[in-house]
Order: sequence, then C-alpha cells, then structure tokens
Amino acid sequence: MFCLRKPVGRLVPGFHVSSCVLHSASSLQSASTSTEHKKRTEEAALYVHWPYCEKRCTYCNFNKYINPSVDHERMRKCLVTETQSLLEISRVSLIKSIFFGGGTPSLAHPETIGKVIETVKRSVNLAADAEVTLEANPTSTEEKALKEFKSAGINRVSIGLQSLNPADLKVLGRTHSAEDALRCLDTARSLFPGKTSVDIIFGCPDHKTSTLIEDLARVVDLCDDHISLYQLTLERGTALFKHVMDRDLYLPSPDAMADMYEASLTFLEEQDFRRYEVSNFARTKSAQSSHNQSYWEGGQFIGVGPGAHSRFVARGENATQRMARVQTLEPEPWMIEVEKSGHATRKADALSEYEVLQEILYLGLRTTGGVPHERWNFFSPDASLLDVFSEAHMIKVLQKEGYLHSLSGGLRATSRGLNLADGLTKELFLILERFWEMHRKADQ
Ligand SMILES: C[S@@+](CC[C@H](N)C(=O)[O-])C[C@H]1O[C@@H](n2cnc3c(N)ncnc32)[C@H](O)[C@@H]1O
Ligand code: SF4
Repeated sequence: MFCLRKPVGRLVPGFHVSSCVLHSASSLQSASTSTEHKKRTEEAALYVHWPYCEKRCTYCNFNKYINPSVDHERMRKCLVTETQSLLEISRVSLIKSIFFGGGTPSLAHPETIGKVIETVKRSVNLAADAEVTLEANPTSTEEKALKEFKSAGINRVSIGLQSLNPADLKVLGRTHSAEDALRCLDTARSLFPGKTSVDIIFGCPDHKTSTLIEDLARVVDLCDDHISLYQLTLERGTALFKHVMDRDLYLPSPDAMADMYEASLTFLEEQDFRRYEVSNFARTKSAQSSHNQSYWEGGQFIGVGPGAHSRFVARGENATQRMARVQTLEPEPWMIEVEKSGHATRKADALSEYEVLQEILYLGLRTTGGVPHERWNFFSPDASLLDVFSEAHMIKVLQKEGYLHSLSGGLRATSRGLNLADGLTKELFLILERFWEMHRKADQ
C-alpha cells in the first residue's frame, strides 16, 4: 500500500540539490533551433556566495566561516574576477536575476555588491526587470547599511527573522533580538516595499503548534508580502545536533512537525499568503521570488564564490551539454585559485539526461505549477510525461488518494501532495527509473 513519510523537507536554492540537471547532447541538438533552446542556454540566474558570518548559529551547516578580520578588498576583487570568468565560460548573454546569499552577505561592503552588479552589466545584459536580492541578518549593523545596499543595486531583501520568540532565538544562537529584527524589518519595508521577504524556522525545541501560530500571527501583521517557512533540519556537526544527541534538547516528533506545517499552511492561506512552493508563500504574484522560480523551473544558474554550485552550458567543443560545476569550498584556497586562474572551479561534470529529468521532477514537484508538458518535452524529447507516467499503477493510486492531479495539465502535486513533496518525489523517481531501465534494455 502506498505510504508517504511525513513531513516536507527544505530546499535552499543551489545548495541542497541532491541530483544533477543534465542534458544529453542528442536531446539538446534535436531542439537546438528552438527559441526555448536559446532561452535555456543563453539566459541564467546568478548566485553569489558571501562565506562569512559574525557567529555560528547552532543549527546551521551552510558553507560559512567566522572571520573577524575579513579582507574585504581581496574578496571584492575575487568575486568580481570569478563573476567575469564564469560569464565568459558560459554561453549566457542575459542575467535575469541575482541573489547574494551566504553566510551573511549583508556583512559585505555595499561597494562589493555594487561592483559585482556592475561586472554583470559590463560583461552581459542584466534584464531591466532583474530581481537583485540580498540575504540579510536583522541586526542594527544591517539596518544601517540597507540604504547603501539599495544604492548599490539591491531591489529585494530576504531577512533571516527565524522567530520572534526570545527563547527560540536563544536556542538557535542568533545574534539579534526580536526587537532588533522588527526594527530591521521596518526599515527594509520602507526601502523595498513589496520586495521584503522573511525567513521563519518552525520545529524548534519545545515548539508547539499553538505557540507557532501565535508567532506567525505576529509575523504576518508586521511583515511584507513574502514568507519563507523552513522546517528546522537537524544537521550533523552542528551544536544543536550535539544537544539533541545528548538529550539536553528535544525536537518535535516527525508527526508533530507535519502537524505544525499543515497548521501554518492553513493559517497563512487564511491570511492571503498563498503557497507557491513547499516552503514559500506570497500575498501577490509580484512578491514571488523570480530567482527561486527559475531554479525550480530547471533554468540555468551560475554560482560564484566559495562552494557555489552552477548548472550551465559552457562554450567550447561540446557547446550543447549542460555542466554541473562546484567552486572550491573554503575562502582562502578559493581566493588563491581565483587570483591564479580567474576562477576556482573544483569540479565540472557533464550530466546525463536521466539526471536532468530527476532534477526537473524533484524541483518542479515542490511548486504549485508542477512540471508542465512543455518543460518535460524540452528535457525529454523522446519520451513524453504520458509515455513515462500514465501507465504506472502508482500514478493511479496517487491520483485516487488525492496526491496528484490528472496528467492532462502536466505532472502536478495537489495541495495534499505538496505537504508530502519529498515522499511523492521518491515514488515518481521509482517510476522514472523503471521506465528508463526498460527502455535502455529495449534499445540494446
Ligand atoms: C543559510 S541562511 C543565510 C542567511 C542569513 N545568514 C541568516 O541566517 O539569516 C538562509 C536561511 O536558511 C535557513 N536555514 C539554515 N539552516 C537551516 C536548518 N538547519 N534548518 C532549517 N532552515 C535552515 C534559515 O532560515 C536561514 O534564514
Ligand atoms: S544561519 Fe545565517 S548567520 Fe547563522 S551561521 Fe548560518 S549563514 Fe551564518
């Protein structure tokens, strides 16, 4: 019998993509004359990683370093150099959006942010309506700098509020108080009206659904039109992991986490925040993050900075194949390599069509839009969604139990299915795998 494990996971753009997007040469060649092909090889989103933080939060295993004496000038030069180099290596002529993530990029000098944006404009076209986001921690330092970031070219901010509950902020090891966060949010909203997002974490130790909803009610009253709601993930190697293993702290059970997510969803939807991706809610269409949308739609992205990931088609001999690239992880060796070679790509792998399709499924199924037929056909010109999925018994079960819509509009999770997106993806991966194996055998 079909059984999906609760609850949903989280996806932070570009860094938690478990499988790789890829195009086989043949699939791209067959579509090479189409406008879609041009768009998919010449347009991209740009991610820029700032690797430093003021302090290590207890739950976080992102690629970040505590360095009280950052060499800002050297970092600036290296980020500019690598941006230029990767743009040159790619076939990209239009950057549709930029995201400065971290780490804590709001601790970078606004001049650094400005120089990277200028480099993009100098090297290729930056779309006139490009979304340019900065992740910001809500301390007084950031609050004072927001105006300068705006002058440097930032037009959207994503504020790491996490919670308005002092006990949660303490257990998460945040450096800001709820009051600091609200002041910063206020300033951000006045500078970036309609373009200020907040990150909230649920499932902290001792969280209960009732207190979470009370916290969310305050957030909804004070925030702008976009909320990212992440379930706390217990990451190995973090201080929180040790506390939980030592039984100093207890996280809610998986079922309690799922209940919290579902209660938050109901509450946010009542407040006109519509879910457009498992962890993302917006009051209006224009408040949705176009940068993140492009990841979920399988668009190309170029990742600059220590540990950044990319998916793009490079210039050169095999100019049709999408590559998965990863930059050197740690800041010091990353800078040395950038200074020596112009970029610090540690790994560049060509991806198979099967891997692309896995990623298209995994990302698309997290969104309300799902995987439309046209997108699937572009990445899988020889086997349509109907060819792969329509005859599978499990598809009928998933539809009957209300997890999947009919295939006529593409492969789309229902609201119930989105609550269990990770489990749903696993089931669909199995169908894809079986189809792939059968066809490989049939082709041999
Ligand atoms: C890596 S942080 C970078 C932004 C910024 N430094 C901050 O802390 O606000 C991006 C977001 O990822 C989320 N995040 C990081 N680690 C997480 C974890 N273990 N579980 C759930 N969410 C997490 C947090 O909500 C955070 O705002
Ligand atoms: S959550 Fe943000 S501020 Fe905290 S350690 Fe991670 S990246 Fe740094």
